[in-house]
Order: sequence, then structure tokens, then C-alpha cells
Amino acid sequence: MMLRMSANANSDFLARSISAVWHPCTQMKRHETLPLVPISRGEGIWLYDFDGKRYLDTVSSWWVNLFGHCNPRINAALTDQLGKLEHVMLAGFTHEPVVSLSERLRELAPAGLGHCFYGSDGASATEIALKMSAHYWRNNGKPKKTQFLSLQNSYHGETLGALSVTDVALFRDAYGALIQQNATVASPDWRDAANGESPEDYALRCAAALDAHLQQHHEDIAAFIIEPLIQGAAGMAMYHASYIHQARKICSRYGVHLIADEIAVGMGRTGTMFACEQANIVPDFILLSKGITGGYLPLSIVMTTDEIYRAFYADETARGFLHSHSYTGNPLACRAALATLDIFAQDDVLTTNRRKAAFLNRVAQPLRAHPNVRNFRNTGMVWAFEVAEPHADFAQHCFSLGLEHELLLRPMGNTVYFMPPYIITEEEMELMVARTLTIIDKLT
Ligand SMILES: Cc1ncc(COP(=O)(O)O)c(C=O)c1O
Repeated sequence: MMLRMSANANSDFLARSISAVWHPCTQMKRHETLPLVPISRGEGIWLYDFDGKRYLDTVSSWWVNLFGHCNPRINAALTDQLGKLEHVMLAGFTHEPVVSLSERLRELAPAGLGHCFYGSDGASATEIALKMSAHYWRNNGKPKKTQFLSLQNSYHGETLGALSVTDVALFRDAYGALIQQNATVASPDWRDAANGESPEDYALRCAAALDAHLQQHHEDIAAFIIEPLIQGAAGMAMYHASYIHQARKICSRYGVHLIADEIAVGMGRTGTMFACEQANIVPDFILLSKGITGGYLPLSIVMTTDEIYRAFYADETARGFLHSHSYTGNPLACRAALATLDIFAQDDVLTTNRRKAAFLNRVAQPLRAHPNVRNFRNTGMVWAFEVAEPHADFAQHCFSLGLEHELLLRPMGNTVYFMPPYIITEEEMELMVARTLTIIDKLT
């Protein structure tokens, strides 16, 4: 039965939430004027509040949901798993879902990434990869390699290690004294290309800058970490695959690991299962999280090579990778991931997504042609554009107007994006675009 709340009950509930829950990525004082959105249930692409008002989840609930809320197939797998094993520690123990998931990912990932190490959230995968990379070099007699390199405007999470390779001032500044200061190199974001320069030429120019940086600093650098094809938190900055192709060659030349953070872009988001496939490369590490469980449960995975695994394999305990989290490889989360992979295989999701993307690009023509829309772009199942001459506090107004129009839109500055669950229908795509157009008209 659906829970309905009266207006009073609704506001009582919000007051309880505000007093007890400290929300992420939020200046809590803003909620004095901007109410929280209470969600009672989800179904498919829609989220419902306690009054039955619905919101189309255009951002897949922070980029995690692939096959809709309360997906019956993932629900069934979890119900089955609940009757078997909810959790067991992964140190000294193993279980069916974690073994099957590791085997299946090994089959799917670029060849050679045969070892899966488990964490929980995306940031923990970043931490693991950074530690593993530096420890690899230490075990190989290069203890000086303790620095990391990332792209300008990079985002790899917000724990202290992950923040050290995250180039977002708003998230970093307060913690500057606590984090290692690592360098960045120019982002190949094609919006920064010179007039007349193609995205590919710009990517190659940035790759040359990477080469120059590593030539000078490689002795101190353990790894270069990138978000392949799309820098999500940079405002869905998209770039040409040739940058990744070059980065692989350059990192190999200078003895620097390449970490592909596919936390947001993996699991089919860019049109291929892994974004790295489009550059035809094998990184030293692939990081997965978010969509891996279909958006159900926190799980992250660091996939790496036999060469890296072997560097830790020894008689001395201290040469091993002594990193752990209590919920590492949680059976429920792994089972949700297996159900997610089943859906990919059974429904030929990547092919269907290509058709859906072509449809959305067609219906989005009026948006692309809007006089205040700039840089309309698409990669796989991600669309983004900037709004010129925006209303003051555009992101906030756009979010609020979105809710009025049944859309969960969450712009980053003046960048509006769609990153919907893959189950979005043609009708829902039309609705999403038409209502976004109305909102842009009102705010410009
Ligand atoms: C590319 C990338 N890496 C890492 C993270 C951090 O993941 P989490 O928020 O699960 O810690 C994110 C989250 O948005 C991300 O987009």
C-alpha cells in the first residue's frame, strides 16, 4: 500500500529529517528556503513523493541507476540472496557471488585485468588504486614513486586520498592542509579547443603536454588517473578517445601506471561496456562502482593485472596489500551486480541504448537549436549543454522548476545534463526534452 501523507505530516517529516540527517554535498542552511524532496518509493525511471507526485530521474540518482528503481529482476536476485547469505568477511573467507562476479568481470573487461579487489563506494576504489600503485613501486624497488597525476577539473571522490587527485576547488580548499599536493595536466575537454581546432587535435595537443610533464617528473609519479571519455563532475566534459590511447603509450614509456576511473562511465554509460574499449587500450587499473550494482548497493571494484598482483605475492606479510573494509565484497551487493550483468546479457542493452541515444538526439534538436544553448554534446547515454545568459542562481532555479515539471534535473553551474536510467522509453525521452526546453525558456 502506498503511504500518503497529509501536508502537515509531510512537513513534520521534513522537519524530522532536517533535525537528524546531515545531507551530503549540502550547505544545510539552504534548506531554510529550499525544502528537501521526500521520496517514498521508486518505480522504473520515476521517483514518487509521499503525496504521489512523481519525478523523472534524469540523473539516475547520482549516476548509479541503470535499470530503474525497484527493478523486479534485481529485486528477485536480492530476495534469493537474502535467504542464503547476507554477509561474511572476505579476509580468509569467500563466497559464490564474489567469485562469480570476479570471473564475469574478467571476461568482460579489457584483456589482462584478471584480479578484482573490492571496496564499497567509489572513493574507496580510488584510495585502493592509489595505494596499490605506490605499494607496487615500493615492492619493485622504487619507493620514490609516491606522487599522482590527474587531469584539470578531475573528480575521483572526496576521501583524503581521492581528494588529492580531485581538482575541484570547492571540495578541496578546506582540506588543503590535510591532503597530498599532486600536480594536474591540461584536460582534453573539447570545449577548451582553440577556434578551428578539432576535438581530436586538441586531445593530441593535451597528450603532448602530458608527455612533457611525465618526461620531467616520472621518477616521482606512481600513477596517472583519468575519467575516460567524460569528466563527469567537471560538467560532463567530453573528450576524444585518442587522448586515452596516447596516455596509455606515454605512461608505459615512462613507467607510470594508468588508472581508468570508470566509476561513472563504466557499465555501458559511454556506449561500450568500458569506456577504455573506445581507445582500444588496457589500463593498469579499472575502477568500477555506481552502476555496477544497478544502483542498488554500495560496491566498488579495482580490477588490475597479473603483473601488479604478482608484485605483492610473497612470503613476507608486509609485501601484501593489507587494505580492508568491513563490507568488502558484500554478497548482497555482488549478487545485485550479477543480476545487473544478467540484464546486460539477456536484453542486449548496449544495442538498445544505441537506438535510444539516436532517438534522443533526434528529439533534442529543438534544444540543441535553442538560442541560449551552447556546446550540446552526447556520448553514449550522457547528454549535456551549457545555458548562456543564465538567470542568477541558475542551477537552483532549474532544479526547483524541474521538480514543478516532474523532472529531477540537477545542473552543475550552467551545465544541464541528462544521464537517465537505460530503461527510459521514447515517450519519457520526449517528455524530458520538452519540459527541459520549457524550463530553459523560463530561465533565459
Ligand atoms: C569519476 C568518479 N570517481 C569517483 C567518484 C566517487 O564515488 P563515490 O561518490 O561513490 O565515493 C565519483 C562520484 O561521482 C565519480 O564520478
